[in-house]
Amino acid sequence: MPEERIYLSAPHMSGDEIKMINEAFATNWIAPLGPHVEAFEREMAEKIGARAALALSSGTAALHLAGELLGIGRGDLVLCSSFTFAASIGPYFHKGAEIAFIDSEPGSWNMSPQALERALEHYAAKGRLPKAVVLVDLYGQTCNMEKLLPVCERYNVPVIEDAADALGSECLYRGEWRRNGAFGAFAALSFNGNKIITTSGGGMLLSDDAEAIARARFLSTQARDPAPWYQHSTLGWNYRMSNVLAGLGRGQLLHLDERIKARRRVFDRYVEALGDVEGMKFMPEPDWSRSNRWLTTALLTGALEKISPLAVLDHMASLNIEGRPLWKPMHLQPVFKGADYWPHEPGQDVCAGLFDRGLCLPSSSFLTEEQQDRVIAAVRAVIAAPEIAAV
Ligand SMILES: Cc1ncc(COP(=O)(O)O)c(C=O)c1O
Repeated sequence: MPEERIYLSAPHMSGDEIKMINEAFATNWIAPLGPHVEAFEREMAEKIGARAALALSSGTAALHLAGELLGIGRGDLVLCSSFTFAASIGPYFHKGAEIAFIDSEPGSWNMSPQALERALEHYAAKGRLPKAVVLVDLYGQTCNMEKLLPVCERYNVPVIEDAADALGSECLYRGEWRRNGAFGAFAALSFNGNKIITTSGGGMLLSDDAEAIARARFLSTQARDPAPWYQHSTLGWNYRMSNVLAGLGRGQLLHLDERIKARRRVFDRYVEALGDVEGMKFMPEPDWSRSNRWLTTALLTGALEKISPLAVLDHMASLNIEGRPLWKPMHLQPVFKGADYWPHEPGQDVCAGLFDRGLCLPSSSFLTEEQQDRVIAAVRAVIAAPEIAAV
């Protein structure tokens, strides 16, 4: 009988969610929209410190609508962190935009300010400034906003913050701690099943520009003109979150702060248990970042250079433990072959190195110490005897 499965990052319900869902049933607000949707938007905007929010069916939908609001279309240039998940850029790729990728900085693993600077200088000289820069707060860690935003401002290029992983995380910006999801012209959150809070599937678009959010609301509900019949001056999408799922989200949001504490505890415990292993390096946290530690991620470097992260994942899988490699950077993806890429330093490809040496460990907020000990033992076993895991 195999041991109970340990997932990478699974939903964590509190009991408050079902009360909210029952309320939706009791009032028959099952159909799209309703009071939970409005309340979820208001509560999230307050939590993050944004003026307006729009609850949607996914984080990808939020990123798409941000692009629509900024007018991203065929032939436009968009810059994006290379070290990310494909959804950060998918909506603009589908619009026919040209995507160029920016490397990570070693200190945060997120977009390198110096690489962005070089890229913008180059495109400005060619008279081809990007329509947007997508900054991704990967694995829950904020980007280096203090350095990145002034560069974008100098070239007058709007920012889309992909904060899908970073709900509740914070960034020290101009002397104040600000929540992720409140940077740039628009920000996107995800409530996908594996995120720190979930609506089983969903997302949110945030901005201080309430008019733009109103426009996104219109586009996300099929762009129906105010007329007695179905009339359209433009066409939109069906992207709204349902009232039932917004109730689930409200119940989850009540517990966000506890979930962050729990994930940070999981991270700290991995560091306590494995931090002494020579060559094992956990994702750093610069002093301007307070990460929600959505996923614990680590690198096998130096003395562990000969051990493949895939070997560790393979051994974990044999023990019914789910892990994952780090994201394969976008500039290494077959679909983006030939795209422009701006490394941290010429000849130093930081995110390719992270992908080569990294892995994600189980990080659910309900992970017990016993479960975590199983993961730690599995990692230690491969380090002690790499031959036990055949890749
Ligand atoms: C960095 C990043 N961007 C975008 C998304 C897309 O969000 P969704 O799955 O809600 O569409 C995700 C996760 O799923 C993500 O991790």
